[in-house]
Amino acid sequence: MASCTTAILGTGSYAPAKVLTNDDLAQIVDTSDDWILSRTGIRERRLADPGETTSDMAARAAATALADAGLLPAAIDAVIVATMTPDMPMPSTACFVQHKLGIPDHAACFDLNAACSGFLYALDTACALVESGRYRHALVIGAEKISTVLDWQDRTTCVLFGDAAGAVIIGRSARPDAGFLGCNLNANGSVAEILCIPGGGSKLPVSADLLASRQQFIKMKGREVFKIAVRAMEESAREILEQHQLRPDQISCVIPHQANLRIIELIAEYLGIPLDRFFINLDRYGNTSAASIPLALDEARRAGRVRAGDLVLMTAFGAGLTYGSALIRL
Ligand SMILES: CC(C)(COP(=O)(O)OP(=O)(O)OC[C@H]1O[C@@H](n2cnc3c(N)ncnc32)[C@H](O)[C@@H]1OP(=O)(O)O)[C@@H](O)C(=O)NCCC(=O)NCCS
Repeated sequence: MASCTTAILGTGSYAPAKVLTNDDLAQIVDTSDDWILSRTGIRERRLADPGETTSDMAARAAATALADAGLLPAAIDAVIVATMTPDMPMPSTACFVQHKLGIPDHAACFDLNAACSGFLYALDTACALVESGRYRHALVIGAEKISTVLDWQDRTTCVLFGDAAGAVIIGRSARPDAGFLGCNLNANGSVAEILCIPGGGSKLPVSADLLASRQQFIKMKGREVFKIAVRAMEESAREILEQHQLRPDQISCVIPHQANLRIIELIAEYLGIPLDRFFINLDRYGNTSAASIPLALDEARRAGRVRAGDLVLMTAFGAGLTYGSALIRL
């Protein structure tokens, strides 16, 4: 095993069938297709059925990733679900996914919450577990039923997000041209409250007053988040490139967190990487939080936008504020 590298062995994704367009949203809140498209680049997003849970979507994405890797559920030793919209506060969504897929008891199953950066946090954790030799294969999922924490009376937030799941299988690969090169993970808790769900936790437990004041939904200072996000992703991406002595033009494809097209355009400009090297699907899904990068990675692979051997830079930011970047050779 000494010559093996830790790599992505398979990818999968799932998005619910129901499409909510910007025009549909204009029937719900005071907004327009023109405003949403010009400010964010989003045209439509997906909505899970009321009976469809985060773990349902996660399991579907994971089943596709397992098939892509050519592995049976019994090969999985760890299931990590990055989510901020778990099925329940406890137990973890990962345990529901394990049961739905028939992954045996020997697997460690846990959730991880780093909001929209969650997938990169989970990816780095999984790669460390596999690299250490403690686990052979880890299933890493980003999944969100974010429609359940959106205030459908708040036009400043409800137009931005969508439901989906994406998954990757991490394991050892004998291919010398494939492998996880590294990751930086960061957080700035001093600005935690500019993007949060204030209620429903131990600080403001569920109560009639809480529900009446709509504190169970996402609250965001959009302009502040925008500015910090651009700087944070640019810095973390630059840092990882320098650390690996790579020039921007050596990156085959950038898979950024899909929050806002204007944010992605600015990062492309600041990093000096042409926008056509960025894989962008936010026009069809909106911001799917922890699902956004694995969903985009899976679509990019299936569309032939990234191939075996390509050097891929992933970069994300989210509530916390958390942020980070990862480099992987597919
Ligand atoms: C949310 C965001 C799109 C708003 O765009 P913006 O250009 O900053 O717009 P502002 O918040 O300054 O609002 C401008 C005006 O549009 C209005 N507006 C906000 N949402 C609107 C909507 N959906 N439709 C129509 N008008 C809207 C505001 O009320 C404001 O009106 P006013 O000038 O009369 O007060 C942008 O700030 C953003 O994308 N921020 C980052 C958010 C993000 O990515 N969060 C996820 C992090 S993982």
